[in-house]
Amino acid sequence: MKATVVYESLTGNTAAAGRMIAAGLTAAGIEAVACPITHVDLQSLSESDLVVVGSWTDGLFFFGQRPGRAGRLAKLPVIDGKQAAVYCTYALDAGKTLSKLARVVRMRGGDVIGGYAIKRQDLEGGAAEFVDRLLAALEVAEA
Ligand SMILES: Cc1cc2nc3c(=O)[nH]c(=O)nc-3n(C[C@H](O)[C@H](O)[C@H](O)COP(=O)(O)O)c2cc1C
Repeated sequence: MKATVVYESLTGNTAAAGRMIAAGLTAAGIEAVACPITHVDLQSLSESDLVVVGSWTDGLFFFGQRPGRAGRLAKLPVIDGKQAAVYCTYALDAGKTLSKLARVVRMRGGDVIGGYAIKRQDLEGGAAEFVDRLLAALEVAEA
């Protein structure tokens, strides 16, 4: 299985998490690359069975949260028939960012099997937890 992690990042947290997620998947035997939404690795994406999409949380901290610069994510190449997962990074409260991001990814054809909100104060721990949950969800899906 191959995977591509595509992220939208303003100040670098979501990019760092994306690279950690790709490294965690690769360590578990799923060859993964991470790339920004502005420079999607199209070859990797077309060869991937799993697409992970990440964004940062934009809002008024406790109200109106949504994926940051979601317009860019809405232009993700079509991923019909591929399994997908979403993550966001946030400071205080991610609100409905994950479910909104999942909707965007479904619009591009992804079959969203899970999502996780990663607190920016612990990107490493959050990325590791997300990878663990993702691997478990993939095993259930394949069983
Ligand atoms: C304009 C702006 C709005 C934000 N709104 C929220 C918010 O509503 N809730 C929250 O928990 N974090 C909010 N954040 C914090 C970011 O989501 C968080 O720092 C995130 O990790 C940034 O990711 P990045 O470094 O990939 O851009 C906001 C950040 C910015 C710049």
